[in-house]
Amino acid sequence: MCPLGGVAFCGCGVGTPVRFWPEGETSMSELNAEDPDLTGKTIVVTGANSGIGFEAARLLARRGATVVLAGRNDERVADAQARIVADYPAARTATQRLDLASLASVAAAAAELRESYPSIDVLVNNAGVMALPKRATADGFEMQLGVNHLGHFALTAQLWPVITTRVVTVTSLVHRMGKIDFDDLMGEGRYQKWPAYFQSKLANVLFALELHRRGEAAGSTMSSVLCHPGYASTNLQSVGPTMEKSGFLKGIMGFGNAAIAQDAEAGAGPTVVAATEDLPGGSFVGPKGLMEFRGRPGLVKIARRGYDEAAAARLWEVSEELTGVSFEVGTGG
Ligand SMILES: NC(=O)c1ccc[n+]([C@@H]2O[C@H](COP(=O)([O-])OP(=O)(O)OC[C@H]3O[C@@H](n4cnc5c(N)ncnc54)[C@H](OP(=O)(O)O)[C@@H]3O)[C@@H](O)[C@H]2O)c1
Repeated sequence: MCPLGGVAFCGCGVGTPVRFWPEGETSMSELNAEDPDLTGKTIVVTGANSGIGFEAARLLARRGATVVLAGRNDERVADAQARIVADYPAARTATQRLDLASLASVAAAAAELRESYPSIDVLVNNAGVMALPKRATADGFEMQLGVNHLGHFALTAQLWPVITTRVVTVTSLVHRMGKIDFDDLMGEGRYQKWPAYFQSKLANVLFALELHRRGEAAGSTMSSVLCHPGYASTNLQSVGPTMEKSGFLKGIMGFGNAAIAQDAEAGAGPTVVAATEDLPGGSFVGPKGLMEFRGRPGLVKIARRGYDEAAAARLWEVSEELTGVSFEVGTGG
């Protein structure tokens, strides 16, 4: 079925693996003749110092893009940049301090990026946290909603005037279990770490599809697409247990990573495809293998709740109110 939900067949080719990762290949490290040359493109990746963001940044730089590695810790980001340059000495990379848990940091980063890059081809909203014990951002938002959705909402809004091609939002399979609790968005009544993660990942989907619809209505040529990495072994699974000082949970997560997960490079495949392939707005790219946990990237289905336009419009409005950032989707950069 077409990923655009209610829309009749749109020719988007659901079910067919995308050309970018040909049959028989297990890695994206080797360049193929038909892989797009990204020389001259500027791509900003949030959370680029680790896991999927790092691997996506590395693969995009490998293909010639100028990749801006955005992250909250200067040292970790500089280290990631050095690792990319060590692999590919000709890589064009830059760094940007960005803490999505602080609206002031998001605003400063957006202003610096607009100043440095009058045109950003692709913004990849990748950074994320999962199943943390209850924590608040600098602005008092529940951390998972704050970083995964609200920070990216504010960043995208403030970069929109200079984005020229696409916004990629990284969500998760678990958006299927998400529910936006508009009565208690921040979990003030009752905080549960997993539902809070599911909520934030459904918020990613609602936001990306609403951006797609608003862009289309405004006659924008920019597209908003989504991807998910399946299950990839990264730091994501250990941050929460470390904060909770739970060796038990850390062990379970470590076992899952070793037994089931694909590696971070494979997990970055859908992100690279979503950032570079010629896809219709609103597309969702994920691994096509076992239960979408792993495998070569292709177009996959968004859960029905992701197409809830009323919830998406309401979330947009609430996100504007909470962040104090108005997001008028004009034709863009
Ligand atoms: N791994 C999976 O199986 C999986 C599955 C589904 C979806 N995802 C999604 O994939 C994305 C990337 O996760 P990952 O698996 O690559 O995890 P990861 O290795 O932990 O990377 C997460 C990145 O987000 C950054 N980040 C966290 N809080 C931030 C903040 N306040 N401001 C700026 N950056 C911040 C981290 O920076 P620090 O290193 O400084 O903490 C890190 O660079 C997330 O959106 C996640 O929800 C992952």
